[in-house]
Amino acid sequence: MAELQNDRFLRALLKEPVDRTPVWMMRQAGRYLPEYRETRKEAGSFMDLCRNKELACEVTLQPLERFPLDAAILFSDILTIPDAMGLELRFATGEGPIFDKPVRSLSDAKKLFVPDMDSDLGYVMDAVSTIRKALDGRVPLIGFSGSPWTLATYMVEGGSSKTYSKIKAMMYDEPATLHHILDVLADSVIAYLNAQIEAGAQAVQIFDTWGGVLTPRDYQEFSLRYMAKIVDGLKRENDGRKVPVILFTKGGGQWLEKMAETGCDALGLDWTTDIDDARARVGDKVALQGNMDPSILYASPARIREEVATILEKYGHGTGHVFNLGHGIHPEVNPEHAGAFIQAVTELSPKYHG
Ligand code: CP3
Repeated sequence: MAELQNDRFLRALLKEPVDRTPVWMMRQAGRYLPEYRETRKEAGSFMDLCRNKELACEVTLQPLERFPLDAAILFSDILTIPDAMGLELRFATGEGPIFDKPVRSLSDAKKLFVPDMDSDLGYVMDAVSTIRKALDGRVPLIGFSGSPWTLATYMVEGGSSKTYSKIKAMMYDEPATLHHILDVLADSVIAYLNAQIEAGAQAVQIFDTWGGVLTPRDYQEFSLRYMAKIVDGLKRENDGRKVPVILFTKGGGQWLEKMAETGCDALGLDWTTDIDDARARVGDKVALQGNMDPSILYASPARIREEVATILEKYGHGTGHVFNLGHGIHPEVNPEHAGAFIQAVTELSPKYHG
């Protein structure tokens, strides 16, 4: 494997000194880029794109061709695991993901199984190794998975939801059924992330997009507990380097101390927590990733730069900060504004280091 030329992302996650704050964007390969929309058309459906390792590699690299990003993220989706469990994922235009066979009862839950990482999810590992080769050591590659709770919301609801009515009814009336689902998912995520690490992922992120809809008690019982089990089960080494683990619970700002206790290396922050408070609370234990409101990218490049300056100043001097958005980049954002954001981080952050 080619020697890593830019390791400031991995170093910042492990709180080792860096020359400037590393930066990447959640959903950096996606619909805001015209070249993504082109490749997506060529591929057919979104899942066809995920299953085609050459095209998945191509779209992973597209944002790196435009911007001086410090990490690449595997192009795939969190819903590959439930799809591999036989729930029949499809993406309907305008509606988001749909499962034709949702999990609604104990007997549905009992049919779930840990997918085979070669036969069922081998296409993801093929994409990881293809991208690693193509990166040729330019920047590290991030692998990822959804959290068990977040995956379960889609599996039980049968798609996206505003109310979480079905999964919450299950959680309150039939907690044992939900725990069974979450157990199979946690084992699946451990196997999935370990397979990604083996195929070449140099850091991994767990997306707990919907943990923030839970009460503090339910968050611990139905989301955090399973993420802690995953952190425990990961082989955190690749090419003789530690593979850092990032936990991201959207809306989880009030639980940072508990999240840091899982033994993860870094926490992703959305924009509803101030990064200076977060650093004061957990900065001695973990690195922090975030946390610019993705909607700032609708504003002018001058305003974007001002916001970057504010967040850098709030985090303050020293390592342990990976700059990112507080959630994925919106599809309508002008790519030049994304460029202004990344350029601002590269230009304004060196003074906080060295
Ligand atoms: O960050 C990256 O660039 C890597 C790729 C990535 C995608 N999805 C590609 C994608 C990642 C990391 C994800 C994770 C994901 N997928 C999450 C967690 C992250 C988050 O945003 O909170 C969730 C909840 C999903 C589920 C999912 N996938 C939804 C709800 C949708 C539909 C979104 C919509 O607005 O239509 C997807 C589809 C999806 N995943 C797209 C992309 C680029 C758009 C599909 C397309 O090209 O039509």
